[in-house]
Amino acid sequence: MAIRQIREEGDEILKKKSRVIENIDAKLQDLIDDMIETMHKFNGVGLAAVQVGILKRVVVIDLYDDKGPIVLINPEIKKEKGEQEVEEGCLSFPNKFAKIIRPAEVVVEALDRDGNKIKIKAKELLAQAICHEVDHLNGEVFIDKIIPGTLEYVEPETDTKK
Ligand code: NI
Repeated sequence: MAIRQIREEGDEILKKKSRVIENIDAKLQDLIDDMIETMHKFNGVGLAAVQVGILKRVVVIDLYDDKGPIVLINPEIKKEKGEQEVEEGCLSFPNKFAKIIRPAEVVVEALDRDGNKIKIKAKELLAQAICHEVDHLNGEVFIDKIIPGTLEYVEPETDTKK
């Protein structure tokens, strides 16, 4: 396993659409392991393959609860219900946060990392994370759909104290 480099704001790859995955092979398993490790390293709740420079439709999500890391291959949002106004950030936009309207509930269908069909009904933070990551697969980034005027830049913590 390895930490992969995260593509950040300004990198054109983030605007590209990812391709459907046809083969769930060893190379994909390595990618998934690396994505989970990279997400954990940077304390993210989600990461899409495009964010590590791979245009494949796979995302990982971890809310740090008992559900553990969730892997979604070729995810498709089948239903959306309601709205929630939430605070959001993205590992590709370090230290930037903004408010955004997301569906309150979604139903997503995908394959898990073993190729089994799965269906997840999600609400609150999980619904938000799924929508955010599926957007990445379509070349969409959260910053383009935020509520105007809500963008905040939070100074990163540094090791040196003055
Ligand atoms: Ni993101």
